[in-house]
Amino acid sequence: QRIVVLISGSGSNLQTLIDHSLKGDLHGDIVGVISNKADAFGLVRAENANIPNMVLDHKMFESREDFDLALIEQIDSFKPDLVVLAGFMRILSEEFVSRYQGRLMNIHPSLLPRYKGLNTHQRALDAGDAEHGCSVHFVTEELDGGPIIIQAKTPILMEDDSASLQARVHTLEHKIYPLAVSWFCSGRLRVTVDGVMLDDNCL
Ligand code: GRF
Repeated sequence: QRIVVLISGSGSNLQTLIDHSLKGDLHGDIVGVISNKADAFGLVRAENANIPNMVLDHKMFESREDFDLALIEQIDSFKPDLVVLAGFMRILSEEFVSRYQGRLMNIHPSLLPRYKGLNTHQRALDAGDAEHGCSVHFVTEELDGGPIIIQAKTPILMEDDSASLQARVHTLEHKIYPLAVSWFCSGRLRVTVDGVMLDDNCL
């Protein structure tokens, strides 16, 4: 399966996906990486792995729709089966989301449906939650609202601050994102009207 990854920053999730793909357990190849930020470190990771990569700066476009149309054009040039958002810090238009419906995944640093949007770690701390985590989900028009594929959680400790929590959740992200992608790529994951269906030979 052909995978395109969209990033805006460090790309540690991208790195994990690259590592798993090289090991052969992703059941897919990362055929392109696109960043909306020229200084995203994830571009260096792609370059080091010899993965075609490019920058598409949203500031060069007058509207979200114009940017998304250009983004669609670039993504489609890679002919992907799956589009993976890995720290891509842009809200996507209706047209974009519907074009990749059922083959567009995101990872979000909270136990959805809790804490959609930003500052999830601080919000979990402020709420006095006992646990926190991350979720991989299919993307729909509702921000951070599509069918959940897999979640991982960690207890919130007395001594935690936003940074320590973020670090722990990041480690969990690196475990669950390759799993979700490999399930999709091996055809074991289906979106139904009720949510996500996993075949029983997944684990
Ligand atoms: C992750 O925390 C992810 O959940 C969020 O953006 C961050 C990306 O981190 N959507 P990285 O660039 O993969 O290191």
